[in-house]
Amino acid sequence: MDRYAVVGHPIAHSKSPAIHAAFAAQTGQALRYEALLAPLDGFAATVAAFRAEGGRGMNVTVPFKLEAHALADRLSARAEAAGAVNTLAFGADGILGDNTDGAGLVRDIIGNLGVALNGRRILLLGAGGAARGAILPLLGERPAALTIANRTASRAEELANTFAALGGGMPIRACGFAELAGQSFDVVINATAASLADQAPDLPPGLYAGGALAYDMMYGRGDTPFLRAARADGAARLADGLGMLVEQAAESFLLWRGVRPDTAPVLADLRAGLA
Ligand code: ATR
Repeated sequence: MDRYAVVGHPIAHSKSPAIHAAFAAQTGQALRYEALLAPLDGFAATVAAFRAEGGRGMNVTVPFKLEAHALADRLSARAEAAGAVNTLAFGADGILGDNTDGAGLVRDIIGNLGVALNGRRILLLGAGGAARGAILPLLGERPAALTIANRTASRAEELANTFAALGGGMPIRACGFAELAGQSFDVVINATAASLADQAPDLPPGLYAGGALAYDMMYGRGDTPFLRAARADGAARLADGLGMLVEQAAESFLLWRGVRPDTAPVLADLRAGLA
């Protein structure tokens, strides 16, 4: 049976084994998917051992996405742009590194939530790896403009400069949080790590245009601090990152198996498990 795994540190709470088992059952694909804890200094060795045992591919999670990017022999365009890899595919010609996080985000927003990105004003909060991975897939939807805002404004500016050439004429702006005052957006995406510390980014009020979506890449039981703040600031729609988690998994499954699973029942089961 073909073997796959997710590797991270920590890894015990990963939902990926359950998600991929559900995809495999649904599509009739014979595969086994496990969770591997790699020592912090043992990522490459863990990948090599799994590959030597006949593993076909891996998902990579915190804190190894940059190491996976360095390890891959070839990179997809989106992994190259993201500077990080969350999916490895082992082939006769070496290791392909891909990044399905941004595509998963976009599919969740458009496909699951039914919110268009084309022609919309998008605000992306954060300038770390999570934000970086979202930029190219978001630009691919041809928004009216993409604004990247970060607590440390210079990091947002660096990202905007990096991606300016890929914007295809669409404006990419960058600023600190305070400079957002007086602006409004149709879609606001939280890619900061603030929720991990049970905090919301310190944003000025009035960011949400009529009907706007607030999206947090994080998820948990109940609303995240960012979503609570967004509701108070008048966001019409709120979504957490559980759909993104399932959609990035589906993109990886598609890469490995050539079959796109139906994410809706898997997402519904996970949501019920969180309630
Ligand atoms: P990741 O790979 O998860 O994106 P990262 O590269 O460490 O992690 O980036 C963390 C991001 O969350 C950064 O944009 C960080 O802002 P700074 O660049 O100013 O550090 C942001 N962040 C973390 N805690 C935050 C908080 N409490 N409020 C706002 N932004 C926060």
